[in-house]
Amino acid sequence: MKSLRRLNPKRNLPLKCLDAFVESSLDGIVAMDGKGRIIAFNPAAEKIFGYRREQVVGHTVSEKLIPGSLRKDHETSLAHFLATGKKKIIGRRVTVTAKRADQSPFTAELEVIPVASKASPVFIAYLRDISEKEHAGKENLQYTIKIKKTLMQTILAVLRIVEIRDPYTASHQRRVAHLATTMAKALELPEERIDGVFLGALIHDIGKIAVPTEILARPGILLDEDINYLQIHCRKGYEILEPVNFPWPLAEIALQHHEHIDGSGYPQGLRNGKILLESRIVGVADVVESLTAHRPYRPAYALEEALELISNKAGKWFDRQIVATCKALFENGYRIEEIDMDELTWRSSLS
Ligand SMILES: [Fe+2]
Repeated sequence: MKSLRRLNPKRNLPLKCLDAFVESSLDGIVAMDGKGRIIAFNPAAEKIFGYRREQVVGHTVSEKLIPGSLRKDHETSLAHFLATGKKKIIGRRVTVTAKRADQSPFTAELEVIPVASKASPVFIAYLRDISEKEHAGKENLQYTIKIKKTLMQTILAVLRIVEIRDPYTASHQRRVAHLATTMAKALELPEERIDGVFLGALIHDIGKIAVPTEILARPGILLDEDINYLQIHCRKGYEILEPVNFPWPLAEIALQHHEHIDGSGYPQGLRNGKILLESRIVGVADVVESLTAHRPYRPAYALEEALELISNKAGKWFDRQIVATCKALFENGYRIEEIDMDELTWRSSLS
């Protein structure tokens, strides 16, 4: 490589090795002098940029390899380094946009190392085209989003099935989903977990499909055997959802939403640390929504009464922070609404 050889003509043997290394490198290697002119351009760089060596040597990096919009940045950064010795890009692995011979931009991973003396500086850039990797990453992300949206649509389809048999439960689940998701947001859960709360709440009572409709709709006080029947819905919900490999803990939310942190809940009598945060949020939203709604066997409670009940049980049945968050929402004017089933992206991070 003539231009590199010129850098140190007295040390031929190491330079032969250096030439072989540069010529066979899979990374593009571009050497530039202190004026920004290209003095070496290896075969990998020819392949990446689509230029032959003789088309670029002697020209500036700025003119040949950098998109017009970024030229000024490059020139300022080089001048800054030469004047102050302070490195912005130099010496670090960075991702940059470069330009091919056909003028198309592409994403590259780049590391620039300064060599030679301060009086006649030379910079060697190691460069790798990562645009395909970046493209594949974006495609993978799109694919993941598509799968998650399909799963969400499946859950909404399941909710529609519940609605046909038991309109009350479907409506209850949509209202619980509205409240639980608003609480999860106020608790600043990560987006992914908020999606889990939203979807888990939407089908938390799916197991009621196993409860005879005459019990679900029976007016008056529930009999002991009715209560037993109602209580199996947690396990049934878990059995329905557990075989599906959801990226959210939907089966656990269905199983645990009637657990209490002091262990007095059902079906497993789990205590605080064993109950998933998502289940604890849905549990509080479930109680507030249920109490404030009319039930066939009792009239609706006033919102204040429902909030008083969860306050009294804070630290016993319910997580104190979750109760405080729920109360703060209502005190700030929040009202439970029904989630529109057709509005898939009502709150999803995937929208
Ligand atoms: Fe329930």
